Amino acid sequence: MTVEIDHNLEEIRRFRPSPEFAAQSIAGPELAEAAAADRLGFWADQARELLTWSKPFTKTLDWSNPPFATWFEDGELNVAANCLDRHVENGLGDRVAIHWEGEPGDSRAITYAQLTDEVKRAANTLESLGVADGDRVAIYMPLVPEAIVAMLACARIGAIHSVVFGGFSSDSLASRIDDAQAKLVITADGGYRKGKVFPLKPTVDEAVAKTAGSVEHVLVVRRGENEVGWVADRDLWWHDSVATASNEHVAPAFGAEHPLFILYTSGTTGKPKGILHTSGGYLTQAAFTHKNVFDLHPERDVYWSTADVGWITGHTYVVYGPLANAATTVVYEGTPDSPHPGRWWEIIEKYGVTIFYAAPTAIRSFMKQGRAIPQSFNLRSLRLLGSVGEPINPEAWVWYRHVIGGGSIPVVDTWWQTETGAIMISALPGITDLKPGSAQTPIPGVSIDIVDDSGTPVDDTNGGLLVVTEPWPSMLRGIWGDPERFKETYWEKFGDKYFAGDGARRDEDGDIWLLGRVDDVMNVSGHRLSTTEIESSLVAHPYTAEAAVVGAADETTGQAVVAFVILKESQKAHAADVAATSEELRAHVARQIGAIARPRQVFIVPELPKTRSGKIMRRLLRDLAEGRQVGDTTTLADTSIMEVIEAQLVK
Ligand code: PRX
Repeated sequence: MTVEIDHNLEEIRRFRPSPEFAAQSIAGPELAEAAAADRLGFWADQARELLTWSKPFTKTLDWSNPPFATWFEDGELNVAANCLDRHVENGLGDRVAIHWEGEPGDSRAITYAQLTDEVKRAANTLESLGVADGDRVAIYMPLVPEAIVAMLACARIGAIHSVVFGGFSSDSLASRIDDAQAKLVITADGGYRKGKVFPLKPTVDEAVAKTAGSVEHVLVVRRGENEVGWVADRDLWWHDSVATASNEHVAPAFGAEHPLFILYTSGTTGKPKGILHTSGGYLTQAAFTHKNVFDLHPERDVYWSTADVGWITGHTYVVYGPLANAATTVVYEGTPDSPHPGRWWEIIEKYGVTIFYAAPTAIRSFMKQGRAIPQSFNLRSLRLLGSVGEPINPEAWVWYRHVIGGGSIPVVDTWWQTETGAIMISALPGITDLKPGSAQTPIPGVSIDIVDDSGTPVDDTNGGLLVVTEPWPSMLRGIWGDPERFKETYWEKFGDKYFAGDGARRDEDGDIWLLGRVDDVMNVSGHRLSTTEIESSLVAHPYTAEAAVVGAADETTGQAVVAFVILKESQKAHAADVAATSEELRAHVARQIGAIARPRQVFIVPELPKTRSGKIMRRLLRDLAEGRQVGDTTTLADTSIMEVIEAQLVK
């Protein structure tokens, strides 16, 4: 396995935290010192300090059966009560928990007391529908407050939520419902996106019809006011059931290892993996990182992560981290450019956002539009910026700091994954000298190394594979229903070290630079897509004989999906119009998986480059897709094939 992405230029700029920022910083050097002196003791202290336990734990980590870890195992807590009730009990009931902004401009401010009330009602509704501790609930929603209420209501009663991003197709939703055997689906009639209502309930109806029959009820929030079909005895409106339910609900205590959620993510094979997270350890690291990486002062900050709850960032840094810390959070339903290209900046101005967390792909697209748009809004409330999801190139980092951040505020680049549950590598803004383009240092209590293919740590700056060498509190506890795949995917390669699937290098100062995935996972606009899953979708189309997909570098989206397809002989007559065929195949992938997987290009080719043993050489296809001189072709079975393919592309 080799790291194919170029090392990230010679970036030499450094930005020291301003004395004013450093003086008020939450995190100081003592955190790293404490973690270095006694790592487990450090995490136990964090768990006690940041969370409220119904029953205190006496054991911190059990790693006697690797790779299956338990953290704080004999302790008990209720995750939702940690995010809600205890703040109300502590006199914070009137603090705004969520400033919600709908895409069309409607808005709602929801206090901690109101959110607690709503979650209790929803918990009662779920229980009245027969949902119990350990049952699975699929959530397929637009980014409305009820999506968050639904997640917390599940957590409150010990049900396991599986949020499926609202952009996924009915097939994708159906396979996730089946894999988890979800009993209930919570959805909305529709939500707002790019100025229009996009329907969700019809997709749920289609999906449920394709499942094996685990779904007993569908609970529907009214948002889009679009027409929806209705299945009597199965479907219920949220406003009929939750709104009228009792707001009395006592949160039971669950064991720290009680499952909290499953979140599906793309792996190297076709089938998405249900990443399983549990309660105590997850919430500890979510709260710890949210507080220290974002320098959260909950009494005065207004925090905004632009992520959707369909992704891990939405779970950890829209819902669980901020609410556990009693923060005030902005949640925005729509796209950054609806109804105008300055929409995000308008929201920052409107709510006086102080901490802003977004993805490099968005930052790069704003850079393209120019600074005039953000500069026409008052962004002076901002005091910290964060980045997540993919490597941020130094130019985008510097633009972000200068144009959005006004030139002097910290930008933290945070590396982590669905599997890690919470941030693993990031600067601490009050103490680290920032380096554009580098995620910099493991957070206190997390042990990271860079190793070669045989697992030996690399001690030069050339780079290798990123591993986590010790278990961490918010680590995934497994893949839902597939312990073997969990072992195989993350642990088999290096035995006792977690293999993240990313390439990385250290510079002379020891700072870590992420170099992109080293496996068949692509990263498009910060979203993970599997090469194999898109290939399987393409070959499921009647036209296709064979397909190969690569992630090609793209200025805005980081990577873009580019597909090469061989048509079946029998179909060539139908598919004679190349442009129409490639459009049809692009649409087919979007229909099957979801719009985020739609290839940027589908090239119809006569052959694919293969080695003598029949393995497709995607490296060569990537060269073509990126417009580069094609690399070494000597291992191909037929060395002339690349010229044939290339000739086809320019036609
Ligand atoms: O390749 C890394 C990239 O995103 C992958 C994880 O994707 P996902 O599970 O969808 O989670 C995304 C949000 C946490 C990683 O394996 N990645 C994430 N953050 C960064 C990153 N690559 C470089 N720099 C980052 N800050």
